[in-house]
Amino acid sequence: MPGLYRKAEPMQRTAIYPGSFDPVTNGHIDIVRRGLKLFDRIIVTILHNPAKQTLFSVDERLELMELSLKKYPDVEVAAFDGLLVDYAVKRNAHAILRGMRAVSDFELEFQMSLMNRRLNREIQTVFLMTGLQWIFTSSSIIKEAARFGGDISRMVPQVVNQRLKEKFAAMRESD
Ligand code: PNS
Repeated sequence: MPGLYRKAEPMQRTAIYPGSFDPVTNGHIDIVRRGLKLFDRIIVTILHNPAKQTLFSVDERLELMELSLKKYPDVEVAAFDGLLVDYAVKRNAHAILRGMRAVSDFELEFQMSLMNRRLNREIQTVFLMTGLQWIFTSSSIIKEAARFGGDISRMVPQVVNQRLKEKFAAMRESD
């Protein structure tokens, strides 16, 4: 019967991909790239937490993220503070996207996703396993290697590699 089985309105599936991203790594980019196969739009959201000491300011992290993701039109880069689930609601997002590396990530990710679920049951957390290539890549370990001149060029976007070199050179000069 015409009209009985009406086609559902297409809903835009939006995910928030939150993190400190200090700085963005190729592992993060890989999660965004693969997340776009599941979601129509991803809002990469950089946590603004004045209590946490970071190497790059929020503005620097925003810029690095934007430059690293400029070829993805369905990705927006933003900063947030406060509760993540509130921000997700504000942005009409239905999901939180997170990458999971080794088992060591599991406990904290599990805690955070349960807390977010308790705070808002409408927002689902979706985990993507980090690509094998990036399993040992983390922003902290990259900063540690870069600080002492290690070659991290294959683990981060080119612009990040350059900016890390400049940052540590400036820090050495001011010592
Ligand atoms: O890259 P990180 O540091 O592992 O990201 C952690 C982040 C930003 C996802 C988490 O700290 C967060 O969501 N902070 C916002 C505050 C909040 O909503 N807390 C309650 C849920 S844990």
